[in-house]
Amino acid sequence: MTRRRLLAGNWKMNKTVAEARAFAEAIGRRAEVFEAGADFVVCPPFTALHVLRVTLPARVALGAQNVHFEERGAFTGEVSAEMLAEAGVRYVIVGHSERRHLFGETDAVVEKKVTAVLHAGMTPILCVGEDLRERQLGHTERVVERQTKAGLAGVDPGRAGEVVVAYEPVWAIGSGQTPTPEDAGRVVAHIRRVMEREKGAEAASRVRILYGGSVTADNLGAFVAEADIDGALVGGASLNPDGFVRMAEVITKGASA
Ligand code: PGA
Repeated sequence: MTRRRLLAGNWKMNKTVAEARAFAEAIGRRAEVFEAGADFVVCPPFTALHVLRVTLPARVALGAQNVHFEERGAFTGEVSAEMLAEAGVRYVIVGHSERRHLFGETDAVVEKKVTAVLHAGMTPILCVGEDLRERQLGHTERVVERQTKAGLAGVDPGRAGEVVVAYEPVWAIGSGQTPTPEDAGRVVAHIRRVMEREKGAEAASRVRILYGGSVTADNLGAFVAEADIDGALVGGASLNPDGFVRMAEVITKGASA
């Protein structure tokens, strides 16, 4: 089955409203790039969602970097899935390693968030990936398997194919270091096998699996050349409008419309 490629930018805690607007206007001057057969999403801080909603090119979707799993209530500082959906958000990053490591998110919390995002009609981007120690111990497959299974435990097999999984080795995030494309492709293929075992062949063939960690316009092409890698989740390199446009050009090259 042909899966549409996806380029997702994760801005983390970067860009004010004015800076977000300038980014949207800059990529808007190259809007034709986004008309090709792939999907694009930008995930800004919550404060910049609105300005991007009204300024991004029509083919670039809005994403969020986090969500709370409860619908409403006394959860100071949190934002619900319904609130995000109403604000125009279509994708939500869940279980990013910075959330897991800096903010103590467990697999159980990640699972509830994935479920809440799907329930609100949005697409979760579930992040999985080993840290350096786990890699050195040879536990990479085991770690991504556990995180994938746990994150999707509450997801009906009939909907599992809607989820996006991002394989992000923790040691590659923001470090300038990456696994080789073949290595990343092997781990991503393993994630697809886990999906098949857990959710069936249909879900496994539909689910889009991204690579993330020090992706740039220069190395992106080699990652998406791997059969099982359907796109990228990009941090630092997604902040620059020219870089984002260049990556959009790379990802659409050879992608089916
Ligand atoms: P990076 O971040 O591209 O800056 O390595 C990726 C991510 O954390 O999603």
